Amino acid sequence: MLKKGDIIVGLDIGTTKICAVVAEIGKDMEKKIIGISTVPSKGLRKGVVVDMESTVHSVAEAISRAEEMAGVEVYSVFVGIAGEHIRSFNSNGATPITRENYEITEEDVQKAIESAKAVSLPLDRVVLDYLPYEYKVDGNSGISDPVGMSGVKLEVGVHIVTGSVTAVQNVEKCIERAGLELGKIVLEPLASSMATLTEEELEMGVILIDIGGGTTDTAIFLDKKIHFSHVLPLGGDNVTNDISIGLRIPPIKAEEIKRRYGSCVSHKIDIKEKFTVPGVVGRASNNMAIKDLASIIEMRMEELLMLLKRNIERSGYQQKIGSGIVLTGGCSMLKGVSELTERVMNIPVRIAKPRGVTGLIDIIQSPIYATGVGLIHYGFLAKIEGGEKKVKIKTTRILQSVLSKMKNIYKGGSE
Ligand SMILES: Nc1ncnc2c1ncn2[C@@H]1O[C@H](COP(=O)(O)OP(=O)(O)OP(=O)(O)O)[C@@H](O)[C@H]1O
Ligand SMILES: [Mg+2]
Repeated sequence: MLKKGDIIVGLDIGTTKICAVVAEIGKDMEKKIIGISTVPSKGLRKGVVVDMESTVHSVAEAISRAEEMAGVEVYSVFVGIAGEHIRSFNSNGATPITRENYEITEEDVQKAIESAKAVSLPLDRVVLDYLPYEYKVDGNSGISDPVGMSGVKLEVGVHIVTGSVTAVQNVEKCIERAGLELGKIVLEPLASSMATLTEEELEMGVILIDIGGGTTDTAIFLDKKIHFSHVLPLGGDNVTNDISIGLRIPPIKAEEIKRRYGSCVSHKIDIKEKFTVPGVVGRASNNMAIKDLASIIEMRMEELLMLLKRNIERSGYQQKIGSGIVLTGGCSMLKGVSELTERVMNIPVRIAKPRGVTGLIDIIQSPIYATGVGLIHYGFLAKIEGGEKKVKIKTTRILQSVLSKMKNIYKGGSE
């Protein structure tokens, strides 16, 4: 059971950055962020680990910096996972209620869920999460908690998230090699949604879209439950690449220019507005219209949003969304992105920063931390349901340093 002083750690292994967030539980059970660190991620492509050594190194560094800031030692982490290999689908299960009074118990709920889980998966896939989204009692739908109700048949709809065995194992290996214990691997859009969506949005139905560097993650919620999720292997890095190729400049310069002058609504920019394209490999610098830069960005973003639109339409849930789209992730900071999204999708859009925590809120108030902070919310709920305290105050490292200094003194050495 969770109590004051317990520590929860979220680790977002993103395509562009690895981010560790450390939260301490306060006396009113608030989640107080006491440490956060971000290090560039070098070993991932489109959300998948492709270079184990680099990723382990970045994970260890991110954790060590966050530990330093928080003054605690981290053991167990909740880790976000995305990548093209993620596939989700819905499965139905049912159980008859045979006892005399026909009252549904927790055991019946579990039986119904078990029957929904009985789907055969290819050998190369592993289930990451089973998320029940709807119960029906005697055919009546829209029931969020059937325990205590009377009925003769209980049905359940479960959202099942799967990943490629090897991609998941590689994440697990990275965590292990970085000397950490895995609390749970969590679907990134689910984590991001926990940090960004309001109760009202969840009730009315909402589409969460996290546009990161290598992937764009979607999650659709109806009646507060996730009904659909999808990971698209496209993100802000594709925009950066287009700028890099179009302007013949290295990606690092293209990234800088995108953040400083980029926009995805070219019609709003005056053709007279210019910026300097740096000269590389002996070439002279030159001026370019910001409007032309915006056209490059807009084209790629429009393509990305059209693909999202198609996925959302295919899900069949679009008509049921009462609220709108909530955009988060680093790419949601691109100028004009909400306007373009509204134009393409024809649904109201808002940009969201993470919420629901205290402490270092000035730092975490950026869409790039939606997943990291969401993992804290996920971890909080998971621990309430029976997690263990896996952290102790950072005395061991201090002790180790004292001991090594003492050894040096006895050996007659110096630091
Ligand atoms: N101020 C900004 N303006 C425009 N784009 C930005 C800004 N800040 C960050 N980005 C873009 O956001 C992207 C990174 O977002 P984020 O940190 O959410 O990704 P990630 O979590 O590392 O990747 P992923 O979720 O795809 O694995 C990059 O493409 C970056 O260019
Ligand atoms: Mg991300």
